[in-house]
Amino acid sequence: MRRKLVAGNWKMNGVTDSLGEVAKIAKAAAANPGIDVALCPPATLIAPAVAVAGGMPIGGQDCHENDSGAHTGCISAPMLKDAGATLTIVGHSERRADQNETSHDAWAKAAAAHRHGLNVILCVGETEAERNAGRAERVVQAQIEKSVPEDAEGSWFTLAYEPRWAIGTGRTPTLEDIASIHAIARAKLGTMIGDDRAQGIRILYGGSVTGANAASILAVDNVDGALVGGASLTAEKFVPIIEAAA
Ligand code: G3P
Repeated sequence: MRRKLVAGNWKMNGVTDSLGEVAKIAKAAAANPGIDVALCPPATLIAPAVAVAGGMPIGGQDCHENDSGAHTGCISAPMLKDAGATLTIVGHSERRADQNETSHDAWAKAAAAHRHGLNVILCVGETEAERNAGRAERVVQAQIEKSVPEDAEGSWFTLAYEPRWAIGTGRTPTLEDIASIHAIARAKLGTMIGDDRAQGIRILYGGSVTGANAASILAVDNVDGALVGGASLTAEKFVPIIEAAA
C-alpha cells in the first residue's frame, strides 16, 4: 500500500517571519499520522524550518549533481543534508524553463541526492502546446525514460506529474486526464524498473491543487498525493489539503 504524500513547494517565497506557518503546518502533519507531509521552503529557511518542524520532513527545491565546486549560486546534496533536509525536489518545470535543465540533468540530480541519502521528488509534465498537439503522454513518457534513475524505488523515490500549464494558473486537467497520465506514468515505470518496483513508487499530482479540489484529485486512481505550490504557503490553505489526503 502506498501512503499518501502531501508536499509543499514554497518556491522563491518565505522569510524568517514565515516560520510560524511551518510550525502550524507541522502541527497538522502530526495530527494526521496516516499520511506523509513534507515542506520544501527556500534554501535559506531549511535549517530554521527543521528547528520548528517537529520531525516533519523538510526538503530542498533543487540539488546540484556535484557535491561541491565552482557552481555559483547552486546547492549540493551534502549541503542540503547538512542543513537538515531529508528530501529534495528535482527537475521542476520552472527550473527546466528558467535554467534550461534537461531530463538528463534531473536524472543526475536525483542520483546525487540518493547517493547522499536524500529522498527525491522528481517532476515531469507537458506544456500547454504539447497537450494541445496531443503529445502529453509521449512527452511525459520521454521525460520519465530520461530522468528516472534505474535504481528508483518507493523507499526514496517519488514522481510528480505537474502539467506546466496547470501550475499557478487555477486550471487543472480533468480527473480523467489525470488518471490517464498517472496510469501511463506507472506503466512506463514498470517497463523501466519492473512492475513490482513501479507499484511501490508514489506518483503525486501537482498544479493548482487547493482545499477545494484536493479531495477529488486525491481520489483518482494512481494519484498518491499532491505537490502543492501557492496553497502550501499558509497553514490556512495547506491544512485543508493535508486533511483531504488523510
Ligand atoms: O511544485 C508545485 C507546483 O509547481 C504547483 O504550483 O502553485 O500551481 O500549486 P501551484
